[in-house]
Amino acid sequence: VKVDQLHRTGFHFQPPKNWINDPNGPLYYKGLYHLFYQYNPKGAVWGNIVWAHSVSKDLINWEPLDPAIYPSKPFDINGCWSGSATILPGNKPIILYTGIDPDNRQVQNYAIPANLSDPYLREWIKPDDNPIVVPTNDMNASAFRDPTTAWFTDGHWQMVVGGRRKRRGIAHLYRSKDFKYWVKAKHPLHTSQNTGMWECPDFYPVSMSSKIGLDTSVNGQNVKHVLKVSLDLTRYEYYTIGTYNLDLDRYIPDSGLKDGWTGLRYDYGNFYASKTFYDPLKHRRILWGWANESDAQLDDVKKGWAGIQTIPRKVWLDPSGKQLVQWPVEELESLRGNKVEKSNVKLKKGDHVEVEGITAAQADVEVTFSFQSLDKAEEFDPSWSNAKDLCGQKGSNVQGGVGPFGLLTLASQNLEEFTPVFFRIFKAPTKHVVLLCSDATSSSLGEKLYKPSFAGFVDVKLDNKKLSLRSLIDHSVVESFGEGGKTCITSRVYPTLAVLDNAHLHLFNNGSETITVENLSAWSMNRPLMN
Ligand code: FRU
Repeated sequence: VKVDQLHRTGFHFQPPKNWINDPNGPLYYKGLYHLFYQYNPKGAVWGNIVWAHSVSKDLINWEPLDPAIYPSKPFDINGCWSGSATILPGNKPIILYTGIDPDNRQVQNYAIPANLSDPYLREWIKPDDNPIVVPTNDMNASAFRDPTTAWFTDGHWQMVVGGRRKRRGIAHLYRSKDFKYWVKAKHPLHTSQNTGMWECPDFYPVSMSSKIGLDTSVNGQNVKHVLKVSLDLTRYEYYTIGTYNLDLDRYIPDSGLKDGWTGLRYDYGNFYASKTFYDPLKHRRILWGWANESDAQLDDVKKGWAGIQTIPRKVWLDPSGKQLVQWPVEELESLRGNKVEKSNVKLKKGDHVEVEGITAAQADVEVTFSFQSLDKAEEFDPSWSNAKDLCGQKGSNVQGGVGPFGLLTLASQNLEEFTPVFFRIFKAPTKHVVLLCSDATSSSLGEKLYKPSFAGFVDVKLDNKKLSLRSLIDHSVVESFGEGGKTCITSRVYPTLAVLDNAHLHLFNNGSETITVENLSAWSMNRPLMN
């Protein structure tokens, strides 16, 4: 392996080289999953954006095709930016995407397959009646992009385009009978003050009583809706759960759920511009997200590539109705190779136990921890509202009561480098507060790296005094799922010593309460066909 390729991932989605960003228009068609994505054919920095295209039978092994959509007409001559796919009646896919026109305005276009009998959907046509939606004079033409998948209600197709007026984020709503002539609704589907531009909106129904996914037009009893937006000011996304009220023609977030940076997130780490789609084959909704690099741009140029897509996740509504839950698609398990197991391992304060026998730089780890009592939990200071700051302050080396305990991933022989993923439990007046942290602070001795202490709170009762964690470790990414996918965190890290066969995996506890590792299963992960 060339030194500058040490950080290339083994099983995460990426092309052979160059820059990638947002996942676009994911869809299932005639036996194949399609993923399009923002791609620079000419280099490892953002620019010259086209829709690159890959197909897969299992969401894990990917075959590359030629770019599907690239600048060629006045309505997209300066770029083919993000968008979504809709499956029209008769199983006819159609793509809506943002084109950058000769005046650098953001306009919305459609594209259709040239040949519906080709399951690969290799060739796409952009008819000359494009663009179909343009910004009006009262709108900001450089903050008007990323059309959603359309849904059908009341005899109309509806779709949302992300936007901004001054500092207000807007989900502009449009309606059409024929998918070509679109009329703007009187008011947006939803807006929120002081959130800035809403990039890559996503709007979809979830079942209130099952993990089964719903196709995008489903509504009615027993259905909630999710609105997700990506905030370019902070590069964080948030979502709310709410009601899509057809009489008002508006989406109304449930009370108690916040718009903006303090809202709920799919992932508290390096995860942006995400998009879901409905998989009719396995009746599930699948989420894709972009994990960009955290190294310096010069490093990307040296590597010759930048950006990966996270492992596709199944997403559903938690039975509480208060949050979503995510889990890597089951197909990922087909890559599991050599397995090691541990059970009933006691971790006293300061203990480290190495998990040997797997390729620790390319692994899938599932573990369940338990503890006897919460008496030793540290007091929670109510001013700690920001999980990330708290994790920065109380890292894995800072001794605690119940926790910090968890995994040290991508650890070097003498622990000069490690990326800890851990829980820490606090005592608040009426409940316990659980923090999940994925801390890049000690991940690398390298320079000019962004090494954030990503963290999120986990909404869990702790009645059974157990917590579970799964981490997907892949050279320069650690993607973690706390408590069955209630809180997820993706970190990009660039170890210099903990690479390839020199990477190690440990269990650790740095709290005074003894922790029991009830069960641990860890697998070496095989490489899929990756473009
Ligand atoms: C989000 C984004 C989108 C835009 C695309 C351009 O990362 O800025 O809003 O369509 O990337 O590549």
